[in-house]
Amino acid sequence: MEFFNTVNVKDKTFEQYIGKYELNSIITDMAHRINHDYRNCSNHNPLIIIGVLNGSFMFLADLVKMLNIKCEIHFIKVSSYSGIHSTGKVTEILGLTRNITNQNVLIVEDIVDTGLTVRELYHQLILKKPFTLDICTLLYKKVNCKVDLNIKYVCKEIEDKFVIGYGLDYDNLGRNLDMIYS
Ligand code: IMP
Repeated sequence: MEFFNTVNVKDKTFEQYIGKYELNSIITDMAHRINHDYRNCSNHNPLIIIGVLNGSFMFLADLVKMLNIKCEIHFIKVSSYSGIHSTGKVTEILGLTRNITNQNVLIVEDIVDTGLTVRELYHQLILKKPFTLDICTLLYKKVNCKVDLNIKYVCKEIEDKFVIGYGLDYDNLGRNLDMIYS
């Protein structure tokens, strides 16, 4: 039996954690910040947004609809997770065909947990000599973060909870949920 604010995924029951109204509010605030900070981007010098698949697709889609700056949207894939425990291992970056040298680049993540994934990604992308390179994440488990990395754009800091929905998965299930459950 499922109550309106819980959802069963595989062997676990998840409770509503961040509702649609709050998601819309924190993403709108983030879009305003990005619009302001990258207001000088142009057709010749657009913001290169790099979404990290699979988890970021829903956040990124809602975020970019509210951007009024010139931007390009690209996706890459890395892998570091299995089940509910981070393995801390990042495999190669797949799918980046855009040359980012001398460009303003923004990495868009669903969640930063230990930070190992995004640090590895950051270090690999910085070798390509972008003009600026920053990180935007929907959720940030700051208490778990093991790396010394400035995450400039954080929509919301959360406690050490395993969350699903709005792109985030539990063994690939739950990404389609339209809000966050824990
Ligand atoms: P990190 O390397 O520990 O920061 O983990 C980053 C990646 O692990 C994210 O991009 C997610 O794919 C996944 N992840 C971390 N925490 C969660 C969670 O609570 N739910 C679902 N996936 C998570």
